[in-house]
Amino acid sequence: MVTSIESSTILVVDDEKSIRRAITKRLAREGHQCIEAGNAEEAIEQIRANQPGLVILDVMMPGRSGNQLLADIVTSFPETAVIMVTAVVDINIVIECMKGGAHDYITKPFDLEQVVQTVDKVLDKRKLELKIKEFQESLKNEVEAQRKEIRKLFLNSIEALIYALEAKDKYTAGHSRRVADIAVAISEQMSLSAEDLDNIRWAALLHDTGKIAVDPAVINKPGRLTPEEYRHVMTHVAVGAGIVKPIVSQQVLEIILFHHAFYNGTGFEQTIKEEEIPLGSRVITIADSYDAMISDRPYRTALTSGQGVAEIRRCSGTQFDPNVVTAFLRVPLL
Ligand SMILES: [Fe+2]
Repeated sequence: MVTSIESSTILVVDDEKSIRRAITKRLAREGHQCIEAGNAEEAIEQIRANQPGLVILDVMMPGRSGNQLLADIVTSFPETAVIMVTAVVDINIVIECMKGGAHDYITKPFDLEQVVQTVDKVLDKRKLELKIKEFQESLKNEVEAQRKEIRKLFLNSIEALIYALEAKDKYTAGHSRRVADIAVAISEQMSLSAEDLDNIRWAALLHDTGKIAVDPAVINKPGRLTPEEYRHVMTHVAVGAGIVKPIVSQQVLEIILFHHAFYNGTGFEQTIKEEEIPLGSRVITIADSYDAMISDRPYRTALTSGQGVAEIRRCSGTQFDPNVVTAFLRVPLL
């Protein structure tokens, strides 16, 4: 329940009716709307029903004490201010109440003018606190809106980068997006977290960014690559990681760095194997290989999807992680 910043209703909680009446009468003269409660249970009912901005609470009451009630108010109605009323001898209780979240205290016997002054002071303080809270809330919303806007701009620039890259080459047009779709579909079959899915999607979209630095004559070579040409093509991994490093997270970067890793560790200049390879890389390498196989390439025509699936299955345990292959085989519409 949210207490209105403008609420000036004051709840006076005291088991002595005469004290309640004296306080409410005096505060009413100051223009405050007052309600009363004779014990903790009645007080909670009144707070629920009327959302007072301030509670004046007697510490010593039969049944649940004022400081027990204070704890409930602080927890359940944090926007309600509390002034404790206690006897001078209860100074330790006062300290406890202030630590427990009371805004101020009044000692008995009290002068009603002192009550008015304390109430004014606490209401002003509460108003200020609520305004600060409101401001913090709007600031938080503003930051969140800015964050979304920056992320949108970031995603748009990534898309533009990918379009520019793939526009150079009719064989790879749309490849990154298809790899991302397949990689996400595999990840869903593996019930990966939303964060993993997001990282894998971005890594898939960006995995071949480094091809921008590879000689098109080598990429489009119709025949088999020489070892030197293959080495040159494989530079796209490190080059791509270098290009996207300033704009992606460490996880996305690592997925890109190992997207050509073989599960059994026998890939190009590979130093890690099996589960040491980031899971996202093990997912993307299957999506990447499958899409490459079912697409035309300068050196061969496309395989059918059945042939592509058979090839992925054949390389399970060597090039590909068998668990990820199992998930890949469950992806619909292959
Ligand atoms: Fe690649």
